[in-house]
Amino acid sequence: MQTSGKVTTTKLLQMKSAGEKIAMLTAYDYPAAVLLDQTGIDIILVGDSLGMVVLGYENTLPVTIKEMIHHTRAVKRGTARALVVADMPFLSYEVEVSQAVLNAGRLIKEGGAEAVKVEGGSEIIETVSAMIRAKIPVMGHIGLTPQSIHQLGGYKVQGRDMTAAKKLRADAFALLAAGAFALVIECVPWPLAREITQDIGIPTIGIGAGPHCDGQVLVLHDLLGLYDRIRPKFVRQYVNLSPLISDGIKQYISDVRESRFPGLEESYE
Ligand code: KIV
Repeated sequence: MQTSGKVTTTKLLQMKSAGEKIAMLTAYDYPAAVLLDQTGIDIILVGDSLGMVVLGYENTLPVTIKEMIHHTRAVKRGTARALVVADMPFLSYEVEVSQAVLNAGRLIKEGGAEAVKVEGGSEIIETVSAMIRAKIPVMGHIGLTPQSIHQLGGYKVQGRDMTAAKKLRADAFALLAAGAFALVIECVPWPLAREITQDIGIPTIGIGAGPHCDGQVLVLHDLLGLYDRIRPKFVRQYVNLSPLISDGIKQYISDVRESRFPGLEESYE
């Protein structure tokens, strides 16, 4: 496990070349960022999954740039080593290139992010190039792109047929040509993710894309058992915190009701 040495976009490239796997997780607040950073995570993504697992929206679409900045600032305050990447929320980068650059710049300047992530392929290449010209590192996100949920018709595996697979591959290489430093590949058949990973010169970070990507990412609340509204096949729940938290809270309620809390040891003379 790597625990020292600031993670940068250059270091991620070196890790790919050395065949060293990259571990990425989401975080949305200070305590989670401190825990992730101290345990040696390489990349912390302030994902727009924030909308679902923290703010309780049905999907990621309602998340605003203001909310992303607010949570990115909290994460940044708790992070010393990991690279902090912030998601660009729905409609903050699709309408106007100049507005997209300004919004990405706000995540860097006000939020303290070190890079931004955008969903899409060839249709956003001009925007990605403009962000990179403005010195903003960009991580791409292809495959299942949750901001396109209504167009895709649900959370489904992408790139299954030949035409869709070709388009995904073309999107990956268009993002590479535009200057993206890494690529999230979500919910695609593992042979396709493996092929892109082998052929492309930037790190691929998989989620539901099989074991051959250069790195993996999960939503923290899925890994910890803190979100049960949607449970994709690709999630591995490493610990189930919900019942532990419920037990602690129930004990507290009962201690208050039965006058067992506070005791004198928790009181002042
Ligand atoms: O918003 C998010 O958490 C993400 C990851 C699932 C890659 O985009």
